[in-house]
Amino acid sequence: MTSSTLDAPINATETHPSLEELWMPFTANRAFKRAPRMLVAAKDMHYTTADGRQVLDGTAGLWCVNAGHCRDSITAAIRDQASIMDYAPPFQMGHPLAFELAQELARMLPEGIDHVFFGNSGSEAVDTALKIALAYWQSKGQPERVRFIGRARGYHGVGFGGTSVGGIEANRKQFAAQLLPAVDHMPHTHDLSRNAFSRGQPTHGAEFADSLDALIEKHGAHTIAAVILEPVAGSTGVLIPPKGYLEKIRATCDRHGILLIYDEVITGFGRLGAAFAADKFGVIPDMMTVAKGITNATVPMGAVCARHEIYDQVVNNAPAGIELFHGYTYSGHPLAAAAGLATLEVYRSEGLFERAASLESYWADAVHSLRGSPHVIDLRNIGLVAGIELEARPGAVGTRGFETFLKCFELGVMVRSTADTIALSPPLIVEKAQIDQMFETVSTALRSVD
Ligand SMILES: Cc1ncc(COP(=O)(O)O)c(C=O)c1O
Repeated sequence: MTSSTLDAPINATETHPSLEELWMPFTANRAFKRAPRMLVAAKDMHYTTADGRQVLDGTAGLWCVNAGHCRDSITAAIRDQASIMDYAPPFQMGHPLAFELAQELARMLPEGIDHVFFGNSGSEAVDTALKIALAYWQSKGQPERVRFIGRARGYHGVGFGGTSVGGIEANRKQFAAQLLPAVDHMPHTHDLSRNAFSRGQPTHGAEFADSLDALIEKHGAHTIAAVILEPVAGSTGVLIPPKGYLEKIRATCDRHGILLIYDEVITGFGRLGAAFAADKFGVIPDMMTVAKGITNATVPMGAVCARHEIYDQVVNNAPAGIELFHGYTYSGHPLAAAAGLATLEVYRSEGLFERAASLESYWADAVHSLRGSPHVIDLRNIGLVAGIELEARPGAVGTRGFETFLKCFELGVMVRSTADTIALSPPLIVEKAQIDQMFETVSTALRSVD
């Protein structure tokens, strides 16, 4: 052993390549590098680990591989496009696939939402949507409308805009001194005392939407540009909107002319058994941010989908020249556009959104079969999403959830833990037997974790 190996503080495993140089995102780097979990291949519903085990993907990667892994038509489309045209600049130039994908998306989107601005991620989509909201109000002659309203426990990515409107304390506190100034947060809607063990949308809590009226009263509607929320909050533990809540938020925004943005980065592309959460809940926003499932996560891509009127106001009412001073080198990248078109075709030809809807009640039964398992204080489900909330250990929030995740991984199923909630959101191609395997594994894991 060389002295440099002896000196290495963390990289103690016999792993190639070295684990030291990579600074991993949203990861406890030191703990991971001491006991890495490496994935080396994936197909359909399974990952293969570096030590050759098959792991059932209960989370569609990170809520994104909605059609299952390494689908032949999608990988072929990417490969073909890479050899035809690898890249084309998106500023003052175009290529047909980006236009085609925008058109295909517009066909899928709720009525009235028919323009698409591409970026590379959910975070970029969120920051883009916030900028479009500001540009819209400026163009309408109401430049004082600059305030954004987000929500506690909201996650909108990691840009400064998304971090500001987001409501996760841990994500905000290292950067708190420089977040956007004119932002407020409504309370979240999670109410265990009244709604524990709800199937689908909880009954109680439409009145949480009244907090928007209170913020309007405080600041004046004429200062508020937009409200942004996840229709179902994923990252903070699967928070499902109570019945009537989204309807109330929509009505309040309408009454005061405030734009409503849905962050559909997780809920888009069939996750809830409909194309988008807007369709599932029948409440349509003014803009939607999407990413993840848009390309089945094969090539990074995100997008803002905007109502006709917003595009019309910002673009068609502008003087000649560039109308929106915003965009990315890789907006509508040819490989992402090719992947997106092939992905939408898989969704359509295999009827995957309908498949998710048809599995919803089987899924719900499986989720609620965990009632009575050790530590479980709530079970939530909607579409093909489950939240299994565990009682936190006193003084050690998150440890029980994380240990459950580790145990499930060891037992061959990938789940996600956020604090002490276990989230499941499998690819929409999941089979009933695989659903059974997921919940049996979680049940076994819960019995082994103290
Ligand atoms: C609702 C929501 N918005 C935005 C993001 C950020 O997306 P990305 O990680 O692609 O930047 C995520 C990621 O999980 C998300 O769940």
